[in-house]
Amino acid sequence: MILTRFVIIQESLLVVLFAQIFDRKVTMATTMQAVQLDEPGTSDKLYIGTVAMPTLTANEVLIKVFATAINRADLLQRKGLYPPPKGASNILGLEAVGIIEDKGINCSDKLSVGDRVLALLPGGGNAEYVTAHEGQVAVIPSGMSFTTAAAIPEVWLTAYQLLHFVGKLQKGEHVLIHAGGSGVGTAAVQLVRLAGGVPIVTAGSEDKIKKAVSLGAEVGFNYKEGSFVEKVLKQTNSESYKTALVKEFSENALPYFNVGSTHQLKTVIDTVFPLQDIGRAHQYMEDNKNIGKIVIQVRDEKQEPPRSEL
Ligand SMILES: NC(=O)c1ccc[n+]([C@@H]2O[C@H](COP(=O)([O-])OP(=O)(O)OC[C@H]3O[C@@H](n4cnc5c(N)ncnc54)[C@H](OP(=O)(O)O)[C@@H]3O)[C@@H](O)[C@H]2O)c1
Repeated sequence: MILTRFVIIQESLLVVLFAQIFDRKVTMATTMQAVQLDEPGTSDKLYIGTVAMPTLTANEVLIKVFATAINRADLLQRKGLYPPPKGASNILGLEAVGIIEDKGINCSDKLSVGDRVLALLPGGGNAEYVTAHEGQVAVIPSGMSFTTAAAIPEVWLTAYQLLHFVGKLQKGEHVLIHAGGSGVGTAAVQLVRLAGGVPIVTAGSEDKIKKAVSLGAEVGFNYKEGSFVEKVLKQTNSESYKTALVKEFSENALPYFNVGSTHQLKTVIDTVFPLQDIGRAHQYMEDNKNIGKIVIQVRDEKQEPPRSEL
C-alpha cells in the first residue's frame, strides 16, 4: 500500500518534472512559425516560415498565441503601404490572444504566467509567440474561447476609443455609425447601447443593416439608396428622442430652478410682451435687442387660481 502510494507520488513528480522540462524547452525555443512576406505584394505572397522567437524586454510579457486576427491595416502593410511603427515587429498581426508564458523583469503583479490574455499589438501577432507591453494586455473574461477573444482587441478598442475618449458619449445621445456592418461598426452599435445612447447606422446592404439592427441599432439607412442625411435628421428629431430629452432635463436640471437650490439656475428674461403686442415682440427680436428670452403674456398671472384648485 505504502509502496503503491510512493510509486504514484514518484510518477506525479516525474510528470511535474517532465512538464517543467517541456515548458522550459518551449520557453527556451529559439525559433517559431510566423506569417512571412518577402516583399510587398498580393495575398498569395504570404506564407508560413520559421523565424526567431521574439525577444522579451523588461515591461513585456511573452504570449503563446492561440488565435490572432486580421485588419484592414494588415492588407495595407502587405502591400507596402503601411509600414510597422519604428521598433515594432515586421511580422503582420495587430492583435493576438493566448497564454502568458513569461514576464519581463519590470512587469507588475497585475498579470501572471499562465493567464489567458488578449493583446493589442504594434505588430507580430500572426505568429506562434508574441511579446506585448503588459499595459496593452488584459485577462480574457472567464469562459470565453480564444477564438471569440481574438475578435475583441482591435475593433472593440477602436469603437470604445471613438465613442468615449474622442466623442465623450453621453447617455441619451444619438450616434451615427457609418459602415454599421463592419467589425468596428458592429462593436460600436453595442457599446452605444451599453452607454445608454441610441445608435443609427448606414451601410451598403440590407443584410448589414439587419445585422446592425439585431445588435441594437434603432434604424439603418442604405447609403446606396439616396442621401441618408435627411433621414437621419428626421430620425433624431423623433418623438422618442424628445421624450427622453424632457425626462432627463426634468430629473437632472429642472430641480435647480427652485429657490435655495445648491446650484441655482435662473431664467434670463429680457421683456414680457402682452399677447396683443406679438408683432412688436417679433420686431424686437428681429432687431436683436433682446438679452435672453422674450416672453408673451397671454393672461395676467393674478388670474391664476390658488394651487389647491388646480
Ligand atoms: N485602431 C484603429 O485606428 C483601427 C482599428 C481597426 C479598424 N480601423 C479602421 O476602421 C475601419 C473599419 O474597420 P473594420 O475592421 O471594422 O472593417 P471591416 O469589418 O472590414 O468593414 C469595412 C466596411 O466598411 C465599408 N466601407 C468600405 N469602404 C468604404 C467607403 N469608402 N466608404 C464607406 N464605407 C466603406 C464596407 O461596408 P459597406 O458595404 O457598408 O460599405 C466594408 O465592409 C477601417 O477603415 C479600419 O482601417 C482602425
